[in-house]
Amino acid sequence: MKKNIAVIRGDGIGPEIVNEAIAVLDAVAALYGHTFTYTDVDMGGAAYDKWGDPLPQEMLQRCLDSDSVLLGAVGGPKWDGVPGDKRPEKGLLRLRAGMGVYSNNRPAKIWPQLAAASPLKREVVDKGIDFIIVRELIGGIYFGEHRTVEENGQRRGIDTMTYTESEIRRIGRIGFETARKRGKRLCSVEKSNVLDCSRLWKAVMHDLAKEYPDVELSDMLVDNCAMQIVKDPAQFDVIVTENMFGDILSDEASMITGSIGMIPSSSLGDGTRGLYEPIHGSAPDIAGKDLADPIGTILSAAMMLRFSFDLPAEADCIERAVSAVLDAGCRTADIADGGPHIGCREMGRRIRENLTKG
Ligand code: IPM
Ligand code: MG
Repeated sequence: MKKNIAVIRGDGIGPEIVNEAIAVLDAVAALYGHTFTYTDVDMGGAAYDKWGDPLPQEMLQRCLDSDSVLLGAVGGPKWDGVPGDKRPEKGLLRLRAGMGVYSNNRPAKIWPQLAAASPLKREVVDKGIDFIIVRELIGGIYFGEHRTVEENGQRRGIDTMTYTESEIRRIGRIGFETARKRGKRLCSVEKSNVLDCSRLWKAVMHDLAKEYPDVELSDMLVDNCAMQIVKDPAQFDVIVTENMFGDILSDEASMITGSIGMIPSSSLGDGTRGLYEPIHGSAPDIAGKDLADPIGTILSAAMMLRFSFDLPAEADCIERAVSAVLDAGCRTADIADGGPHIGCREMGRRIRENLTKG
C-alpha cells in the first residue's frame, strides 16, 4: 500500500516525538511491504515565525491533498503575546475545521505495566480503566464568536457557545456507533441544568437513542462526570461530549492512566482522512532535551494505520511493541515514577526493535 502522510512537527517537543513516530512507521512499512511518503507542513508557532500565519492556506491544502495527517504539538510561551487569531492554537483549530474532522476519539486506557503510575488508589485502578471520550471537535465555544469590548471604562470578554441539531446528531451517531462496537454503554455528558446548548444536546441524544436500542444511554452533568472519572472510572465505556467539556475531561482521564504522554487521538470527519495527534501539549520546558515520551505520538500513528488506512495488523504490531517495551521496564521520565529512565530517541529505538509480525 502507498500512502502520503502530511507531517506537522510543530513546536516544543513536537519535532522529537514526530521523528520517532515516523521512524516507527517506516519500520512497519518495511516489515509489511508498504510505502509511506511524507509531506512537511508548517503549522502553529513555527508557521507563525516563518510565514506570519499559524496555518497558511497552502499548508492546509497540503493536508487536504494527503491521505492523512500526523501532528506533534503546537504552542508555547514564546507566542503568548501574539494576537488571538495568529496564535499557534488558532492554526490547529483552523486545521481541524478545514479538514472537517468533527469527531475526536481519545482513549483512556490503563496499561497494566503502568498501574503504579496512576495517582488513583490501587483498588480503584484494579477495577479497570478502559473508556473512550468522543469529543465534538469543530463546534461549540471554540468556534463561536470571540471578542473583547470596552464598556463603562472596563473591558468585557465575550465567547459564544452555539450548537445546531445537526452538529450534535453527527457526533452523537459516532458516540452510539463507538459504543456499539465496545461495551454498548454510552454516557452523554453536558450541563443541561444551566446551558441551552446542553438541553438541546440531551434531547438530540435521546432522539438518536431510539435508533440504537442495543446501546444503553445515560446522561451525566459535566461537573459530576469530572468527579466520577476519579471516583469510579470503571463505570465508563464511551463518553460523548461537546468540544470544551471534552478538552477538559480528556486531560483528566489521561492523568488517571498514569501519564498524559501516553494517550493518542484520532480526529475524523465523513471520509477516511484523519488527523492524528497525541493529546498532550508541546511541553516547552523539556523541548530539545530528549526527555519527551514519544508513545502518545507513536500510538497515534498506529491509530492512523487502523482507522484511515484500514491496516489493523500493522496497528496491532505497533501496539504490541509498545506493550513489550513497557514489559521490559523501559520508561521515559513521565512514567518512571522517579526511577531510572531512558530518553525519547531510545524509547523510539526500543519500540522499533520490538516490531514483529503477529
Ligand atoms: C487539545 C488541546 C487543544 C484544544 C489546544 C492546543 C487548542 O488542548 O487538543 O486538547 O483545546 O483542543
Ligand atoms: Mg486539551
